[in-house]
Amino acid sequence: MNNKEEAKIRIEKLKKEINRYRYAYHALNKSIISDEALDSLKKELSDLEKQYPEFITSDSPTQRVEGKPLKKFKKVEHKVPMLSLNDAFSEKDVSDWHERIKKLLPPSAKIDFYCEHKFDGLAVALEYQEGMLIVGSTRGDGKIGEDITQNLKTIEAIPLRLIDPQDIREGLLKMGLNETAEFFDQNFPHHLEVRGEVLLRKKDFQKINEERKKQGLPPYANPRNVAAGSVRQLDPKITASRNLDFYAYELVTDLGQTTHEQEHLILKILGFKTHAENQRVESLEEIFAIHKKIQEKRNILPYEIDGVVIIVNNNKYFEELGVVGKAPRGAIAYKFSPSEATTRVKDIIIGVGRTGNLTPVAILEPVQIKGVTITRATLHNKEEIKRLGLKIGDTVIVSRAGDVIPQITKVLPQLRVGKEKNFEMPKKCPVCGAFTEQDKGGIIIRCPNKNCPARSQENLYHFVGKGTFDMKGVGPKLVDRLLDEGLIQDASDLFDLEEGDIASLERYGEKSSQNIIAAIQSRKEISFNRFLFALGITHVGEETALVLAKYFQQKLFALTQASKSTEKSKVISSPLSLRVQPFLQKGLDEAISIQDLIKLTSELTPEDFEKIPMIGPVIGKAISDWFRDKKNIAFLKKLEKKGIKLLPLKIAEKQGNLKGLNFVITGVLDSMSREEAKAKIISQGGKVQEAVSSKTNYVVRGRNPGSKYEKAKELGIKIISEKEFLKML
Ligand code: IVH
Repeated sequence: MNNKEEAKIRIEKLKKEINRYRYAYHALNKSIISDEALDSLKKELSDLEKQYPEFITSDSPTQRVEGKPLKKFKKVEHKVPMLSLNDAFSEKDVSDWHERIKKLLPPSAKIDFYCEHKFDGLAVALEYQEGMLIVGSTRGDGKIGEDITQNLKTIEAIPLRLIDPQDIREGLLKMGLNETAEFFDQNFPHHLEVRGEVLLRKKDFQKINEERKKQGLPPYANPRNVAAGSVRQLDPKITASRNLDFYAYELVTDLGQTTHEQEHLILKILGFKTHAENQRVESLEEIFAIHKKIQEKRNILPYEIDGVVIIVNNNKYFEELGVVGKAPRGAIAYKFSPSEATTRVKDIIIGVGRTGNLTPVAILEPVQIKGVTITRATLHNKEEIKRLGLKIGDTVIVSRAGDVIPQITKVLPQLRVGKEKNFEMPKKCPVCGAFTEQDKGGIIIRCPNKNCPARSQENLYHFVGKGTFDMKGVGPKLVDRLLDEGLIQDASDLFDLEEGDIASLERYGEKSSQNIIAAIQSRKEISFNRFLFALGITHVGEETALVLAKYFQQKLFALTQASKSTEKSKVISSPLSLRVQPFLQKGLDEAISIQDLIKLTSELTPEDFEKIPMIGPVIGKAISDWFRDKKNIAFLKKLEKKGIKLLPLKIAEKQGNLKGLNFVITGVLDSMSREEAKAKIISQGGKVQEAVSSKTNYVVRGRNPGSKYEKAKELGIKIISEKEFLKML
């Protein structure tokens, strides 16, 4: 949100819209929007209200204190407040939390965690006096809840009396909890409090809804609501008929337990159900793995869960970490990300595919869906935009349900503020400027220009390839898909891709998406010569790129020196011979910026290019032309914006294995082209000669060697095989 005024308007709109859905659901029995999308709107509202608390009004849906004590039930005071949990939605949120708590605990503290299902039910507190259940209550506002003892007593999973103290003691001993057993003996707890979650199994929820359907009643939205409603019935018979379940997760009374894990063991001994799959772990990686595993299994569980609760296992640390607001610092609810959410369309851009089709793509405010960040969604064609009624700036529902590809499924026009803009398909190709044509009754818009750069994906293949940016996992197939989906328009767009963009393509899993994004990002620093080779300048192969890199580098160095003495122009026009000057000089040891490269090439004259030593006038002209083309400069500027850094050749030069050695290559090499071999030799400080002379140190003998081989034998020069050559490299 840009400013306060906008936030205020947005808050009002959100409140109205959320209330409209509530009314439709409760009064009209119409579910217009999914729970997930509604949650997403509520979250946005609550975030905005946190940022601008002055705009909170008492009628805001966020102010609805869930389970505020009703008059019809007696009030129960929670002597130990019933807290809530802060949410985490991503691995980053969890590791940020980890960082925060690490700072608050002694540096030597070994922090382990206990992970459990976050049940989507209703929290209750159970109090036992001399082993008998005397009070069962709802959470209420955390301090005061409602007495629903009679109703809770109908739930079979809740023990009405705890097992005998003697058996508890034995149980503890059996579990190896000797100290707790002793503690229990000496401090027999006359009063004991346990907390946990009341829930309705999915199966029972379905049964209830089928029943309601038969009676012509609207179905309930979710098991949690039914569970909450069921325990707050005035007639316990109704509660009993609902077949509710209960899992314990917290032992409030001190029985000498030192970890949360022990708490669960003790709860079990006392006679409660705790979840069997709870796990103690020691690292963030394990937490992430468990979260993933449970999320995958979520649908086949008998009850609803909406995340994983992660608690600092050591109770002492947990206490020390304390409470902020209503939530303990030592625990977090790592929520599952929904399969749909609301977000806003920032822009609509046009992708030009290999076949020339123009595809509109929505640029979204980043949103997490099914665990990945989504920033774009294809809109397919102009008909789809019309069908959705989409304008730029709209709030939309995006989903990945079933399908992996993010889709805009719905526009929420009620949230418009009047600044939204209509979108028109362009009359001209955004890449080459050619007038577009219509196909298939006007649905498909195409760029007819066969030479449109967007369509020549060859350059892109080259850019990502081995000798250039070497992006592992990015090959022609993926490049094609990305172009077709409008996810990239040129090579520079690769650096903007997010995991979600790749994961949204068929056949790319989360893991491979992660690897691909990591591979792309790791290439933001690239050696200068590889970079120049990657640009695809006509005639500039690996070797020429290397020579060119050295030439530019030297010029740049001269420029830096000159700018110090303000005699820049003089230096530029005085050609420096690569042969006499050492390539790398002190002062040019930092990364070269693309901006400097643009500046340098703009100041060099065509004659300068044509006179570049060891390159010659023809190639020199091609290079000059390339750097004089506005489109290419725009491309370079885009790359600069993505943070691409060019590494000077210093390292290779200094540490070059082949420094001072002269090579001659003869015959065909199997592992690389001759051009590549030359580039490798030069990059490691060696020189390549065209003819064998007494100054030659090595002759590399490939298959079918020619006369150079004979000459070398004659002169007694060391001849090496390709294998030996590779070893030297
Ligand atoms: S521990 C210190 N464990 O989440 C807070 N809570 O937002 C103790 N919940 O109202 C909570 N499953 O109803 C804990 N395994 C679990 C849970 C769980 C669900 C609920 C609980 C609470 C809410 C917190």
